[in-house]
Amino acid sequence: MKETVVSGIRPTGQLHLGNYFGAVTNFVKMQYDYNCYFFIADLHSLTTHPTPQDLHGYVRHVLVEYLACGIDPEQSTIYIQSDVPEVAELYLYLNMNAYMGELERSTSFKDKVRSQPDNVNAGLLTYPTLMAADILIHKAVKVPVGKDQEQHLEMTRTFGNRFNRLYHADYFPEAFAFSYAQQLVKVPGLDGKGKMSKSGGDSNCIYLADSPEAIRKKMSRAVTDGGPTVENQAKPEAIQNLFDLMKIVSSADTLAHFDGLYNQMAIRYGDFKKQLAEDMILFNSPIRERIEELSKDTDYLRKVARHGAEKARESARKTISDVRSLIGFKAF
Ligand code: TYM
Repeated sequence: MKETVVSGIRPTGQLHLGNYFGAVTNFVKMQYDYNCYFFIADLHSLTTHPTPQDLHGYVRHVLVEYLACGIDPEQSTIYIQSDVPEVAELYLYLNMNAYMGELERSTSFKDKVRSQPDNVNAGLLTYPTLMAADILIHKAVKVPVGKDQEQHLEMTRTFGNRFNRLYHADYFPEAFAFSYAQQLVKVPGLDGKGKMSKSGGDSNCIYLADSPEAIRKKMSRAVTDGGPTVENQAKPEAIQNLFDLMKIVSSADTLAHFDGLYNQMAIRYGDFKKQLAEDMILFNSPIRERIEELSKDTDYLRKVARHGAEKARESARKTISDVRSLIGFKAF
């Protein structure tokens, strides 16, 4: 039997290269060898209070982009999280055995407390339990994600094992983060510090749907420095980030060429960033064209979402029925 895989993306706008290289590229490859569930985490996105119009628009974006990247709804189950209410039910049960201390210690929670001090809601605190419910609902063992999600996977294993112990059942398997790359991926952003992320603003991200003009403009503004002052100098973070991006989208020859120029102090950042922009455009163009096509086809999107919801609910109902009986909910 094929192993089960689950992963999701929060709909907060368009997908960027971080989402693609951290997660979606693995989804596409895994779908042929595993029993895959790929969903759109719209319940998770409620922590930031999107308007109903934004929420629906963002869910649509992610659905279109999943398909445009090559996730095949006949191979994988693609669904919208809120179409599967069993996930919310499992979240409730898991919350009964998730402790304040461990939730408060989660890095993502601490980041949010810092970045949005006016909206530290209970959904943010229990974000890892909802994520565990997403994974455990299908009893998945592999979860393709970027490096930033590693701690959430560890918490998922804790919650699943704790449930098993509490109810004396060997029910939930342990799930591990997965990537075809040797290590989990962290794609840098364009602002010279840290990962590509929407919270860094649109100028920090290259979106899959960005036009060539938008990519050229963003790349021309990407943060650099005054240039190397001695031969073979270690690269500061902003420069290393751009080289890391080049490693992802450009050929090995191109990377070696600019690396050589840097080491000889002969690099011109303008040329370097232009080359990077053109390679990003080459990578993005076919995906962008499919995004444009698919976004016109509402009937098809509706069909995919309905079909996915049915398949996901079938698997989720089975888990919830087992879980209810393990907990001791019994009919009179
Ligand atoms: P989210 O929506 O922030 O990101 C979606 C996926 O993209 C990856 N990612 C990156 N990878 C590498 N470099 C980057 N700069 C980068 N930015 C984003 C993330 O690691 C993730 O794989 N909590 C999740 C969504 C989620 C989920 C789940 C994932 C909810 N339930 C169950 C797996 C299983 C999140 O917020 O990802």
